[in-house]
Amino acid sequence: MSKKYTIITYGCQMNHHDSEKISYLLETLGYTKEDDLEKSDFIIYNTCLVRENAELKVYGQLGALKNLKRKKPEMIIAVCGCMMQTGDARATIISKYKHVDIIFGTKNISRLPSLIARHRSTGEVIVDIEEEDIIDDETPINREHPFIAYVNIMTGCNNYCTFCIVPYARGKEISRTPESIINEIKDLAKKGYKEITLLGQNVNSYGKTLRPKVTFPELLKMVNEIDGIERIRFLTSHPKDCSDELIDAMASLDKVCENIHLPFQSGSNKILKDMHRVYTREHYLELIRKLKEKVPNITLSTDIIVGFPGETEEDFKDTLSMVEKVGYDQGFTFLYSIRKGTKAAEMQNQIPHEVKQERFQRLIDSMYKIFYEKNKECLGQTLEVLVEGISKNNPDILTGRTRGYKLVHFKGGKKNIGQLVNVKITGHNSFALEGEIV
Ligand code: SAH
Ligand code: SF4
Ligand code: F3S
Repeated sequence: MSKKYTIITYGCQMNHHDSEKISYLLETLGYTKEDDLEKSDFIIYNTCLVRENAELKVYGQLGALKNLKRKKPEMIIAVCGCMMQTGDARATIISKYKHVDIIFGTKNISRLPSLIARHRSTGEVIVDIEEEDIIDDETPINREHPFIAYVNIMTGCNNYCTFCIVPYARGKEISRTPESIINEIKDLAKKGYKEITLLGQNVNSYGKTLRPKVTFPELLKMVNEIDGIERIRFLTSHPKDCSDELIDAMASLDKVCENIHLPFQSGSNKILKDMHRVYTREHYLELIRKLKEKVPNITLSTDIIVGFPGETEEDFKDTLSMVEKVGYDQGFTFLYSIRKGTKAAEMQNQIPHEVKQERFQRLIDSMYKIFYEKNKECLGQTLEVLVEGISKNNPDILTGRTRGYKLVHFKGGKKNIGQLVNVKITGHNSFALEGEIV
């Protein structure tokens, strides 16, 4: 009987994409995928440390595995991902979670088979962390989805926003060459993939480290020419590098979807400065104006942090007013979380939890209303939807996304999965649309 593995992934798309590599490597070793921890021979946690909650979840789950490991000592438990790139979290796992067998980071995933072999032959705990910034261009990917794919175009981040731990976990920014990216996407197109999401912490600074230099809009043009690919998305854009060239590319390239995730974090110039975001509220609003003008029907989403050190009621009101001015279709809001090692963690004027919580509630109340209104505008329209699968709650209902990344539920059969269909929108709430295939 073949051995079984379970991967539990936290964090962003980048981590989920890394898990697709881990899955490939484990399957080459003969493991098969399993969801039930009790039946697994290999359990791996791919961790995130962007906020404290993400870390606490991993500690909680690992603690709960102690008993299982006692019952099944031959089972291997591994921990990898962003948490393992920082000394503190790694030391905690090594000292307090002695049932963990293998620890590695974000830059040495391809070495997993040899780490497993070393653990098997020595029985020792294996800790392998790569500090050098490298980009893994070679490990094949066992994609979770048969027609939608993430494609990494770069790794790392040089921005050092003062709240953020990502640059410490993921290292310096490095871009893959366009040739390598294009070959991967051509291969995906041959296999029937229709939608590609280009991934990077800050895709707008793609190519700066390459010789010859390539810009992100130039890369988009190359991807747009690949036959078979129908939709191109990208994540994440930093407002400071969102150029006119990018906006023009979005407007002119037919496969690039009319949707952008453009985190503004705070609407207050004072807070933006302390966050080291390197743009102002006015600059951001100007970008939004241009995007709306040049890319008809563009949908917008964002990330917002509430309760950054020193945030006053006035600063927070500036955030509320941004949300209203822009009119987002989607958005993610976070309570500021102190991350040891970042500049903001050292700031003296931390905001009490109750204040953060209260502002957070006001912000989401306001945002959900706006999402509702935005979705209402879709009523009566016929939108192109890529059918992703069957709804978890109802086997007669299909789910898919519009080019604007809106989730749509509608009646249909299995045969529609993977197809682009036109759906007339007949209903909505704040988070999804409802419709009928036309
Ligand atoms: N590279 C992306 C963001 C990656 S992290 C960008 O710059 O847009 C995803 C989101 O997590 C960020 O946009 C931010 O809103 C949030 N975040 C990061 N650090 C945080 C912290 N310390 N506390 C709360 N939210 C945080
Ligand atoms: Fe973090 Fe800022 Fe880099 Fe995004 S751009 S990953 S928020 S440091
Ligand atoms: Fe988390 Fe690492 Fe992504 S810290 S948000 S998984 S880059």
